[in-house]
Amino acid sequence: YPGSPKRNVDPEVTLLTFLRKNRILLIKVWAVSVGGCGACTVMVSKRDPLSTKIRHFSITACLVPICSLYGAAVTTVEGVGSTNTRLHPVQERIAKSHGTQCWFCTPGMVMSMYTLLRNHQQPSEEQLLEALGGNLCRCTGYRPILAGGRTFCHFLPFIKICTELFAEDEFQPLDPTQELIFPPELLRMAEKPEKQTLTFRGERVTWISPGTLKDLLELKAQHPEAPLISGNTSLGPAMKSQGHFQPVLLSPARIPELSVVSKTSDGLTIGAGCSLAQVKDILAERVSELPEEKTQTYRALLKQLKTLAGPQIRNMASLGGHIISRHCYSDLNPVLAVGNATLNVISEEGTRQIPLNEHFLAGLASADLKPEEILESVYIPHSQKWEFVSAFRQAQCQQNALADVNAGMRVLLREGTDTIEDLSISYGGVGATTISAQKSCQQLVGRPWNELMLEEACRLLLEEVSLPGWAPGGKVEFKRSLVVSFFFKFYLEVLQALKKLAKFLPVSDGHHYPEISDQFLSALEDFPITGPQGVQRYQSVDSRQALQDPVGRPVMHLSGLKHATGEAIFCDDIPTVDRELFMVLVTSTRAHAKIISIDWSEALELPGVVDVVTAEDIPGTNGTEEDKLMAADEVLCVGHIVCAVVAETDVQAKSAAGKIKITYEDLEPVIFTISDAIKHNSFLCPEKKLEQGNVEEAFEKVDQIVEGEVHVGGQEHFYMETQRVLVIPKAEDKELDIYVSTQDPAHVQKTVSSTLNIPINRITCHVKRVGGGFGGKVGRPAVFGALAAVGALKTGRPVRLVLDREDDMLITGGRHPLFGKYKVGFMNNGRIKALDIECFLNGGCMLDDSELVTEFLILKLENAYKIRNLRFRGRACMTHLPSNTAFRGFGFPQGTLITESCITAVAAKCGLPPEKIREKNMYKTVDKTIYKQAFSPETLIRCWNECLDKSSFHSRRRQVEEFNKKNYWKKKGMAIVPMKFSVGFAATSYHQAAALVHIYTDGSVLVTHGGNELGQGIHTKMLQVASRELKIPMSSVHICETSTAMVPNTLATAASVGSDVNGRAVQDACQILLKRLEPIIKKNPEGTWEDWIEAAFEQRISLSATGYFRGYKAFMDWEKGEGDPFPYYVYGAACSEVEIDCLTGAHKKIRADIVMDVCCSLNPAIDIGQVEGSFIQGMGLYTTEELKYSPEGVLYSRGPDEYKIPAIADIPEEFNVSLLPSSQSPPTIYSSKGLGESGMFLGSSVFFAITDAVAAAHRERGIAEDFTVRSPATPEWVRMACADRFTEMIPRDDPKTFKPWSIPIA
Ligand SMILES: Cc1cc2nc3c(=O)[nH]c(=O)nc-3n(C[C@H](O)[C@H](O)[C@H](O)COP(=O)(O)OP(=O)(O)OC[C@H]3O[C@@H](n4cnc5c(N)ncnc54)[C@H](O)[C@@H]3O)c2cc1C
Ligand code: FES
Repeated sequence: YPGSPKRNVDPEVTLLTFLRKNRILLIKVWAVSVGGCGACTVMVSKRDPLSTKIRHFSITACLVPICSLYGAAVTTVEGVGSTNTRLHPVQERIAKSHGTQCWFCTPGMVMSMYTLLRNHQQPSEEQLLEALGGNLCRCTGYRPILAGGRTFCHFLPFIKICTELFAEDEFQPLDPTQELIFPPELLRMAEKPEKQTLTFRGERVTWISPGTLKDLLELKAQHPEAPLISGNTSLGPAMKSQGHFQPVLLSPARIPELSVVSKTSDGLTIGAGCSLAQVKDILAERVSELPEEKTQTYRALLKQLKTLAGPQIRNMASLGGHIISRHCYSDLNPVLAVGNATLNVISEEGTRQIPLNEHFLAGLASADLKPEEILESVYIPHSQKWEFVSAFRQAQCQQNALADVNAGMRVLLREGTDTIEDLSISYGGVGATTISAQKSCQQLVGRPWNELMLEEACRLLLEEVSLPGWAPGGKVEFKRSLVVSFFFKFYLEVLQALKKLAKFLPVSDGHHYPEISDQFLSALEDFPITGPQGVQRYQSVDSRQALQDPVGRPVMHLSGLKHATGEAIFCDDIPTVDRELFMVLVTSTRAHAKIISIDWSEALELPGVVDVVTAEDIPGTNGTEEDKLMAADEVLCVGHIVCAVVAETDVQAKSAAGKIKITYEDLEPVIFTISDAIKHNSFLCPEKKLEQGNVEEAFEKVDQIVEGEVHVGGQEHFYMETQRVLVIPKAEDKELDIYVSTQDPAHVQKTVSSTLNIPINRITCHVKRVGGGFGGKVGRPAVFGALAAVGALKTGRPVRLVLDREDDMLITGGRHPLFGKYKVGFMNNGRIKALDIECFLNGGCMLDDSELVTEFLILKLENAYKIRNLRFRGRACMTHLPSNTAFRGFGFPQGTLITESCITAVAAKCGLPPEKIREKNMYKTVDKTIYKQAFSPETLIRCWNECLDKSSFHSRRRQVEEFNKKNYWKKKGMAIVPMKFSVGFAATSYHQAAALVHIYTDGSVLVTHGGNELGQGIHTKMLQVASRELKIPMSSVHICETSTAMVPNTLATAASVGSDVNGRAVQDACQILLKRLEPIIKKNPEGTWEDWIEAAFEQRISLSATGYFRGYKAFMDWEKGEGDPFPYYVYGAACSEVEIDCLTGAHKKIRADIVMDVCCSLNPAIDIGQVEGSFIQGMGLYTTEELKYSPEGVLYSRGPDEYKIPAIADIPEEFNVSLLPSSQSPPTIYSSKGLGESGMFLGSSVFFAITDAVAAAHRERGIAEDFTVRSPATPEWVRMACADRFTEMIPRDDPKTFKPWSIPIA
């Protein structure tokens, strides 16, 4: 956009909005988040004015203002390649290595990898990992994505991964000469940069980009309040979430002076405009040039830069923006502060220096920039001999997560001695900004660097860096512990460095440094960032199987290539339809209150606002009594939908929603926690109970009894595609077309019908594909569909509703948190004789699926164990939180954690390893479950034995013990868990499916069935079925969408049986058709498929058939406590090994081995993908995913920055999956079992490995075993569980004396 002034670009528009509105970019992340997930990654290319080279770097389009891209070239996934022209090797390899499931993350992954390859044709493994560090995937478990990426690396790992699932030699080579060149026009512009100021004026905001430093300073003097917009990674999120508004924005992007780097003999000056990625390169270069003693501060900064955000953010964020933002979590400011960095500031008045010290960081006016000044550069001095600088950080995850606490520490010792001459310590995360422990440091000057000083330092630091019990962000005791743990690490690091130095000193000078015991050395090492490697094993198809028959082969996801090119279409990709309106929901800010009034007058006056929809506008029923669509007169949780605004645009609807005034009258009681619900007798449904044997009597005869508690936190689905729907009313007969992202279109259809009071046959729901569901799109989409339909009916116009990530997380609920109490009676040899479990789920404010989840939980609670005397009781509590709902595993992952915790408790009491207790109590022969369903555990035992064998469990167990003996501050842990998982629904009517298969006269086949493509590959599997049955290639068969008009009365794609039951329906339809064709084929056996179809048409044979699967019988009689509720079981076992850092709570997943029984896999690539993805999702549930609620019931964790799903660096270093060769014939399609959910629970092996490591620390320290189990095992939990002299030092608060920042709800 050359020329000036610019009126056509709105400074408030981000690159993502611009691309979406102009339909350039098919990225579906419209409303995903602000910079945290990497799904909207694109590549920016710019000519660097100083080096004159073209720089290619990845960024997240959602944070970049379009105005900041003046002179830059942007490459999106569509620009890289397409299925119509030429696929780029990156796209091809991600797709063919099965690195895409739901697709939502794929374009971002492609662009991160593509950018890497533009800079490094043969990247190293480390570079590949770094490049993908800012991209989240919720489906795959990352292993296959890396497998695709690794094919570009110059170093291929020793263990060749995934080679059986794709053929590497089929890949087209990477040819850099085929890449897009930097546009010559932009090159010309960059070579002769304009000096004049560019101005972009939007409706509310003006963007001014001067061409010279002089002009910038002049403008800053004219607009002292205007921020300098550099990377926008700090300003952008603040403007979005906190509503900060700035009418004038000054861009320093075109000022070369701000990118200057100068090296002197005593330090390094880096321009404030350099990106953090550039800073990283500059520092690395300097470190390689200078002696180690001079680069202490640079090394510490580099350490922080490795894990600070993802590469996209580091590419955008500037050093100046980072320092000036003074975020409390800043990773660099503590190091810069202790490293005595100086800020060179400049204004029209001239230049001056400000020390980057505690006064600047505290924002004291006397130590800060003046409004007319800007930061030009930062001077970082070299360190000197006898000076040591270190950096520390601990976050929920190793990478791409804001630190809970970070620190910079520097000590200068008197030459040749251990006497402290100067000491600086700064902490982040423990106050409103970076805090310097100045007083403590002063008091320690002159002290020798020894244990006494350490003790004193910890005491002083805890006094000076004091955190109140109510501190925002919570985790107070953890943070206090980190304050001293980090100092201890620093203490050891300096001792270690002194030991090295001492070697060069005369013996008389060096001998007095305290020794570090070998056992303590492991405290010094940070866990490396690694990516998963491993082997995937599966049974190959019979050599006699026809080559054309795709069943059992690792066929690529049907839409894989379209995923990788961005061509796959989702619900929100449907272009704006004529007169379309956008709906935004208005939700309650109170947990339990009466609605007194809703005043929308101000909202209606805003431009573009068309109407407001409330419960009164619903012509039919407002949901059910237990589950209302919209609050009528009472709200039951924060996030309860009260009304909705419809406006011409999303922006208008959002600003109008903010103007709606709702007055409430608070009601009692207000219940958030399970314990409060129990106290108030607040339940959503009656108790579910199963019992066998005589529990009380058995307890009397056992050697020992243990009682314990288990608390399992909830889980957010975090599907990458948030909830969305488009309702288009038709002109006639009240017909509606609904495009919706759902696992259950028939449920949306039915709900819309009852809400609008029109027959079901007027409503058609269409689902092309869904960007991840995991259970969260079974029930909830019906609510959004119904509300949008009410809006469409009221206005007579199409209505689109797309939840942004914050609202989605706030409104939709997730996995039920659980509280369980157990009493287990056992013999001294570990045989369990009696088990009594009572558990409670936090169901939230409405019934939803809570009763069913409770039933499933109770049915599945015994897992793989035969215990003669059992009592299981469960209830769902009604609380004033958003209603929880279905989630992959449906109660099993939470419930079974109690059972497995009983096992570990018994093991601890018997002094035996948990695996022995598991083995002893596992089902061994054909038997009956607690609900008296007969089954054979043969496959369970095979899985267990194979897992023990494949993981070399026993020898590694010994190695772990050896490691633990030698290391005090790091501990390893191992655990192996067995699994018996029942698939399907406990009701016969839920096991039916239909399909419609048409053969057209050209021989092409269209299949429609009742399942929905959620990324799990159901459509691919259905084509495999059709191809085998009709004996035609998969390429002749097509699936267009799931539509209620094509296949009616469908059931939710859930409970792991989707592919199975729909596969049977497709099979049935194909067999009907083939039967009809048989006479024709017989007559002309040499004919082609096309010949037979032509003949059939001539002979008036119908070429369309409905297939039907009448399903499995399943029932459960809760009165009698018996039934045949499940069609079959999936068995499995997983073994995990972890290492924990007792001082920080960090954990590294070293290895996971999974053996899963799929019997005869329909598609091993897809099935292994399901196993890996669900295992990692389970690992997230049990280790990092933590929902935080305020004492008022407000959910804090509403985005990827506060809620941490596993990232690439969290995956086990070695990750092996074996599909057990078949030995039985389950009654399923081609004997293939459904694997959608089962892997989730196997993720608990990581949890038990962590608790095993903690138990090792307990044993060493003589700490009594605690039988209260808490999931997730976050770094906070691990650190606090590994009690030591440092945790003993920290002050503890009396919980009665303050209101905590957050409350536990399980
Ligand atoms: C997803 C995400 C993850 C993150 N993770 C981390 C993390 O792990 N660790 C961490 O430490 N940080 C993290 N951050 C924060 C990030 O480091 C900062 O947002 C970033 O460094 C700010 O730089 P910017 O150029 O984008 O600033 P901007 O947003 O452009 O500006 C921020 C402020 O700085 C001022 N400013 C900018 N340049 C100058 C100048 N030259 N002179 C005077 N004032 C100036 C502006 O006026 C504005 O007030 C993360 C941010 C995001 C979005
Ligand atoms: S494929 Fe990665 S989020 Fe779905």
